[in-house]
Amino acid sequence: MEGFAEYNTKLEQVFHLWRKDSNSKYSNHSNVTAAKVRELIDIATLRESGVFFTSENLAEKAINAFNTPIDDSALVVDPTCGSGSLLVAASRKLAIMPLASETLKKWGKQLCGIDLFPEFVYCTKLRLILETLVRGAEADKSLPELLNLLTNIHVGNCLDQLPLITKATHLALNPPYNNSKTPASYSWANGKINNAAIYYYELSLILKDGCSVSAILPDVLRSGSRFEAWRRTVEPALAMSNVAVEGRFDKQTDIDIFILNGLVDRQSFNTVEWQTVETLGTEGAHKIRDFFEVAVGAVVPYRDPHEGKLYSYIHPKTLPRWGEISKIPESRRFLGRVFQPPFVAIRRTSGPRDRHRAVPTLVLGKRLVAVENHLIVLTPRNGSLEKCRELSDLLKENHVNEFLNNRIRCRHLTVSAISEIPWRFE
Ligand SMILES: C[S@@+](CC[C@H](N)C(=O)[O-])C[C@H]1O[C@@H](n2cnc3c(N)ncnc32)[C@H](O)[C@@H]1O
Repeated sequence: MEGFAEYNTKLEQVFHLWRKDSNSKYSNHSNVTAAKVRELIDIATLRESGVFFTSENLAEKAINAFNTPIDDSALVVDPTCGSGSLLVAASRKLAIMPLASETLKKWGKQLCGIDLFPEFVYCTKLRLILETLVRGAEADKSLPELLNLLTNIHVGNCLDQLPLITKATHLALNPPYNNSKTPASYSWANGKINNAAIYYYELSLILKDGCSVSAILPDVLRSGSRFEAWRRTVEPALAMSNVAVEGRFDKQTDIDIFILNGLVDRQSFNTVEWQTVETLGTEGAHKIRDFFEVAVGAVVPYRDPHEGKLYSYIHPKTLPRWGEISKIPESRRFLGRVFQPPFVAIRRTSGPRDRHRAVPTLVLGKRLVAVENHLIVLTPRNGSLEKCRELSDLLKENHVNEFLNNRIRCRHLTVSAISEIPWRFE
């Protein structure tokens, strides 16, 4: 948090310099130009504090995604506002007046932000104040006086502030993405779960009908099979929804995200198209599952005892990528499911930035094979080696990567994602 306090000090200094120069605002005296302040306001330049700050670009996309315009009567709430990028982007939809004080008086009523950390709340306020100046308002009051006008931006736990959040006409949300224990009352999850799922769920329960929602969420909520129940739980109350797959959160943060927007509507039973257009475009076409039985390898090395019959044994390290293997160097005893070659083994671990998401090895031979569970096994329904080779060729096609990246951005490929790959050669 130390780096963060320094950043706040910089913002304060900029304000003071700007105010001092306010009679000759665009002079070179202090070198505080609008462009430089904008650069400073762009939080992407500040990473040391370890919190995921929303970049200016992503914040703008999220705010532009609202289904209804942010007009004079809007109340935009960001319940986990951090350094305030979403509120800064929202403020750009609001009018600017000649004086910073009158502008902030209005913004103070229309922009509401909450965060656990005072440094972040302070930063949000400073950025909004500087935003009025770079948009041409006069710094007519002292910093403490201007800070006092942003009364709806404060420290707190948003989950204790539900009566305030209920009043939102627009909810902008970029919640924390770490895991915590699932509350016992939830029917849709158990064990540890991503906080983004919890925060979205809790907030969606209390928003009023007609509220516009725009949420930046980790992609696993959209594409992960663990979140199927979450998706089914939250989607009925969101009308006119849209899902935009955005890729990586930012250059430094290797988390894929998407923006979910829509209008709260508890009167009807709505559905969300969690898959994007690219995925839906494959309806009706043949899929891998039409030609292959798809299953996950059954051996969990640290858990399964070395008991039962002796089998050839494969795991990702023993397999040549894109190659064929008939002499399997390792064997082990195993009591669970084993597989009859020929089959194709695909590594489960891959990421959206890999050249190929699904990397195969063709496994040949007569002996049954025990397969480690970081591999997905595709056994041709017609038992043919030729079909396995066709599959290896298919996995080189660009559309397969596109399909998988849209379908599942988290690291582990799933049986259902692989099964649904379109059987199409370009
Ligand atoms: C992903 S960051 C938000 C980034 C923010 N949009 C920005 O522009 O910097 C999540 C934020 O949620 C805050 N947070 C976590 N739990 C919270 C809670 N229960 N109530 C309020 N804020 C919370 C964290 O302090 C962090 O600043």
